[in-house]
Amino acid sequence: SRSPLSFKLVLLGESAVGKSSLVLRFVKDQFDDYRESTIGAAFLTQTVSLDEQTTVKFEIWDTAGQERYKSLAPMYYRNANCAVVVYDITQPSSLEKAKSWIRELQRQADSNIIIALAGNKTDLASRRAVQTEEAEKYAAEENLLFLETSAKDSYNVSELFTMIARKLPLE
Ligand code: GTP
Ligand code: MG
Repeated sequence: SRSPLSFKLVLLGESAVGKSSLVLRFVKDQFDDYRESTIGAAFLTQTVSLDEQTTVKFEIWDTAGQERYKSLAPMYYRNANCAVVVYDITQPSSLEKAKSWIRELQRQADSNIIIALAGNKTDLASRRAVQTEEAEKYAAEENLLFLETSAKDSYNVSELFTMIARKLPLE
């Protein structure tokens, strides 16, 4: 097997949608009910095995969603190979915020960037306020990968990163 190929991945989205929780689930298989809001950004790495020969290493920048950190985002998405833009399925305004991040990535990031839209907190089904079909339709129109996830229930989290890994240029 070869040494892993490294790719830079950035997470973007409104504060409290669960960016850090998705990363904590992916990297450490843990979840906190009272996670503190990220300050600036956090850096973590994790590998994904696609098959016996192919391992992808993600260098993950988990950005801070609070408005006061917005101007830092270009430092993290510049040169990113992939982006996960997260919204909360119980908060329609967080999907609008996700769309604005996606427009910014489409204008300012690398033209080959792979963008995934993630609708997080599917465990809060009784409070759902964004229908799957609505986000799915938007994602299809914009050529984005799309999955709904729950960092809490560990639903579709490794699938999200594996789906991205499969789209990366592995030669
Ligand atoms: P910033 O760092 O401020 O940008 O927020 P963030 O997007 O990193 O959100 P964070 O991961 O800190 O999660 C915010 C809150 O939502 C925390 O209380 C988490 O426990 C909760 N949370 C995150 N993911 C889920 C989920 O899948 N389900 C539920 N029920 N709660 C979640
Ligand atoms: Mg965070």
